Amino acid sequence: MADAVRRKLGILISGRGSNMAALVEAAAAPDCPFAVALVASDKPEAAGLTWAAERGIATFAQSPKGMPKAEYEARIDTALRDAGVELIALAGYMRLLSPAFVERWAGRILNIHPSLLPKYKGLDTHARAIEAGDAVAGCSVHVVTEELDAGAVLGQAEVPIHAGDTAETLAARVLVEEHRLYPQILAEFVRSMTDQPLDRIRSTALVLPGAEEAPTDGRPSFTVEHAVFARMADDNTLEVRTADGWRSIALAGEVDWTAVEDAIAHGWEVTAPAALLEAGGR
Ligand code: GRF
Repeated sequence: MADAVRRKLGILISGRGSNMAALVEAAAAPDCPFAVALVASDKPEAAGLTWAAERGIATFAQSPKGMPKAEYEARIDTALRDAGVELIALAGYMRLLSPAFVERWAGRILNIHPSLLPKYKGLDTHARAIEAGDAVAGCSVHVVTEELDAGAVLGQAEVPIHAGDTAETLAARVLVEEHRLYPQILAEFVRSMTDQPLDRIRSTALVLPGAEEAPTDGRPSFTVEHAVFARMADDNTLEVRTADGWRSIALAGEVDWTAVEDAIAHGWEVTAPAALLEAGGR
């Protein structure tokens, strides 16, 4: 698949990053609908960062120590947007994202969790499954919401729990399934995203510096410094700002997405204040 049509993925890790590596390896397939644009971590020493950098993938590290959470997350957010990231995969990222961060990437953050959700949210999932006498364990890929491990489950894989399993032996068996499940579900999610015009518009508009989504009259609309640069006039019509007014673009039928993306970027350019223009469009 041409790079231009692949959705750009940012991966957040805190440790060894074996799920991140599985996503990177999946992205090497010619028909994979996502490309890994950035691997970022709250732990500058995370082994996964070295692994990714050695393979020529852009990396970013920011320790949250000594700064307010909002400042830390703003730095991560800026790094992701600078890399053109359109959706985020959490892969062993050991921090709870703030509601503000989740809101900013609403519906575009996925996570893999080593249990069959809704069972065993949080930590020590394998020990808890063994302790409960469960016959099966597994992993879940879900959408990230403000609440820990609570968003919609997109896919799960089961593994048996054997007599004599320890948390470690079970974790190793589940991990094999994680590495298979995450790339598969992520690819399905990206394909479904690409099929939705509004998602595509959203992911184009919201990576522009300072862009926010602020509905007008109940319709999706995108602003920079409170000025609208793109808005949905109805379900099938996008309006983008031009130097002298508005241009309507029909989204029904055959759509030239490159032209739509250019028009959105142009709308942002004629709307954004000078300071943001210097930060660059696309
Ligand atoms: C995995 O078990 C994942 O499900 C959980 O944290 C672990 C991360 O492992 N969220 P890795 O860093 O991907 O190897």
